[in-house]
Amino acid sequence: MPLRTRFMIYITALLGGLVVLVLFLIEQREVRAIFEEQKDKGILNAEYLVQLNLDPFLLGDDEGVEEDIEGRIDQNLIYVVFYDRNQKPFAANKSIRKYYNIYADSKLDPEVKKGEYFLETKAIPAETNPGRYLRVMEIEVPIYVEGSSTKWGSIKIGLSLEEMRKEERQTRLILILIGCSGLLIGVGGAALMARRITKPLDKLVDGTVKISKGDFSQAIDIDSQDEIGELAQSFNEMSQQLQLTRKRMEAANRRLIQAEKLASIGRISASIAHEIRNPLTSVKLNIQKVAENKGLDHIDKEHLDISQEGIGHIENFIKELLNFTRVSDLELNYFSVEQIVDESIKMIRNTLKLKDVELAKKVQEGLPQVFVDGDKIRQVLLNILHNACEAVDNGGKITISLSLLKGRRGQKVRIRISDNGPGIPIKERENIFEPFYTTKSTGIGLGLANARKIIVQHKGSIRIGENEEPGACFDILIPCEEEK
Ligand SMILES: Nc1ncnc2c1ncn2[C@@H]1O[C@H](COP(=O)(O)OP(=O)(O)O)[C@@H](O)[C@H]1O
Ligand SMILES: [Mg+2]
Repeated sequence: MPLRTRFMIYITALLGGLVVLVLFLIEQREVRAIFEEQKDKGILNAEYLVQLNLDPFLLGDDEGVEEDIEGRIDQNLIYVVFYDRNQKPFAANKSIRKYYNIYADSKLDPEVKKGEYFLETKAIPAETNPGRYLRVMEIEVPIYVEGSSTKWGSIKIGLSLEEMRKEERQTRLILILIGCSGLLIGVGGAALMARRITKPLDKLVDGTVKISKGDFSQAIDIDSQDEIGELAQSFNEMSQQLQLTRKRMEAANRRLIQAEKLASIGRISASIAHEIRNPLTSVKLNIQKVAENKGLDHIDKEHLDISQEGIGHIENFIKELLNFTRVSDLELNYFSVEQIVDESIKMIRNTLKLKDVELAKKVQEGLPQVFVDGDKIRQVLLNILHNACEAVDNGGKITISLSLLKGRRGQKVRIRISDNGPGIPIKERENIFEPFYTTKSTGIGLGLANARKIIVQHKGSIRIGENEEPGACFDILIPCEEEK
């Protein structure tokens, strides 16, 4: 059975029991109060009747008394009996005479004192409605005369309790209404409370189910300041931790796969390159020899030129491939980054000139030297500069800016190379550092892969930078080693 249902059953039973008990006690008190009030009224009524009939009673005028009381009988005052000092009936209304047990005996003790009374409730058959009984409160009080201690007799009256019962019924009805509304409000409140308690629990359960299915991404949204809130918070912390661990594991896995992939690419590439290199050299030499023949017509010469161009391309490819696959140790030394940049620019100057590309350089002052393999870093810069040069149109622009970044893990020199070419589409950004990824018809796709390999070897990083201007932007970060 769900927690909420159980809670509701308990609360409803508890509230119901409580309401019934309280109402029962109130009802008892009310009924007693009504009875007491009726009794007081009855005694006053009896004394009043005595006052009215005192003279004829003392004079023994029973007819006079009877005439008076007959006129006072109504639906509330059912009967009146006067008893003389010997406790014998003196006068009574007519209808009561046939109820001998009521009429004949005075119920008062012979020794009764002034102010004392006798009270009894009973049922007598209703005159007007045969078969039904009237509930009656019978009260008998002694008759004393002012200034005398003699008891002259007594008066017994029967008062209908129908009015009183009506009042009781009304009181009971009101109490039941109050009880029901109280119960309703209580149960409503309990339902709300149950919802407030169980809703976070439901969320908690939902969260646990999701976590057990491996979905750590959704936090449980409970902000209450109680135990459930604390539980939810620790749950969220736990799933955050799990999520973090999973991300790290995935990243580690990716790195592992990447490393394995690179290693096997490297092995295969190296063996292919070695296989091709020797035959290619002899093909090249032979073609050169044939090309030296003066008797060739221009069509044959053109064909040989195309072959030589193709061989040049294959040689270039093998060079790059071996470059990429060779794992060589870094020859580290202190270099000024600006110097390396200048050397790279010098090496690419002709290519820039051919395409009329403008190159701008911005250098922050006071850059520290970096502890790197100068040749390798130059190679990285050349790869990126070549790409930029290929990307821009004639008359395009390349900018190199050098600056110092200070982070938590020490200082880094940033080399930013940006161009005003078409830029790198977002969907390609993930791939451009992969080996053999190229969008160019004669591209090899090893320039950036090689660049990344070298920079990672230097414990630095290379990534696509955020530049406001259109075009591509590459950031190379090289950590500055503390001078030893
Ligand atoms: N400056 C640049 N502007 C636009 N795209 C670039 C730029 N640099 C690199 N790329 C993209 O990255 C790919 C990979 O570059 P790279 O590894 O040097 O291989 P390749 O130059 O042989 O294609 C390129 O084919 C090109 O699509
Ligand atoms: Mg390239």
